[in-house]
Amino acid sequence: MNRFLNLADFPREQIKDLLGLAARLQQHPQPQALAGKVLGLLFLNPSLRTLASFQSAMMRLGGSAVVITPGQGTWQMETRPGVVMNGAAAEHIREAVPVLASYCDALGIRMFAEGRDLAADLAETNFRMVADLCDKPLVNMESAVSHPCQALADWYTMDELRVPERGKFVLTWVNHPRPLPLAVPASTVHMAAMRGMEVVVLRPEGFALPEPIMEKAREAARASGGTVYETSDRNEALAGAHVIYAKEWGSPQHYGDHEADARLRASLTDWCVNESWFKNADPDCRFMHCLPVRRNVAVADEVLDGPRSVVVREAFNRMVVQMAVLYRLLRG
Ligand code: CP
Repeated sequence: MNRFLNLADFPREQIKDLLGLAARLQQHPQPQALAGKVLGLLFLNPSLRTLASFQSAMMRLGGSAVVITPGQGTWQMETRPGVVMNGAAAEHIREAVPVLASYCDALGIRMFAEGRDLAADLAETNFRMVADLCDKPLVNMESAVSHPCQALADWYTMDELRVPERGKFVLTWVNHPRPLPLAVPASTVHMAAMRGMEVVVLRPEGFALPEPIMEKAREAARASGGTVYETSDRNEALAGAHVIYAKEWGSPQHYGDHEADARLRASLTDWCVNESWFKNADPDCRFMHCLPVRRNVAVADEVLDGPRSVVVREAFNRMVVQMAVLYRLLRG
């Protein structure tokens, strides 16, 4: 394995192998496995979990990490091709990535969607351009439509909690003050489909996930024996759910048009998960969210602080599964 960019790039068995390695490394720590190795982490967008979990994973395997956050102690960075650099940015990503790669044994890059052109973001235009500049093993730490490490950690968390492989997984849209990217919903629906689950995408009108994302998930479900469908009927979706996974995302119908998106979501304040959402769910139904989360906008305190919530476990498991990813990238 040389790159970990999208769960869809791997057969199910290879993902299961990574999950198995993560479990072994958790049970039997290998504090010298990556001794002498250096991981470079380039964050073009903010983070808490990804930043801390990659650094911790590397340290727990005996390696070290260099973190670059452009504009915070390093030069502001330009990412647009062909631009006249007479503004604030003194460094272009075209030099920054190969320079950083030359110091390191592997890189992780976080580069969110621009959020203006849906087709360009679905095609991962910017991340592909940056990935092409890197001649070392590379991890996607969240791009326009992929957050594979989050998806891997969520799969691991469900296995750990013995959520049935054929269980009902509801990915539900929840409200947020502004449109957020599609990376987590796209990776989550794909992960649950690949795991073989009955996947339901619950969302209000105007927030249907783009067809290429849904079709890719349906393809994964066909291979795993799972199913994928979407609905705006909350009662139908939540009945018998084994997992309710909440996520905020912008309206694909009004992609790049923040005012139209805001008008659509203004009447959707009841899309905030509270205890009543679990009324007809499976008695052991778990609540998941990738974090960060806006309390009492997206999810009520009573759910986040209640026994169903596994959000902190998911975040912890980011470190666990990333140890496996780094091990495979750097040791084979
Ligand atoms: N879930 C996640 O990626 O968190 P951060 O944005 O804090 O890294």
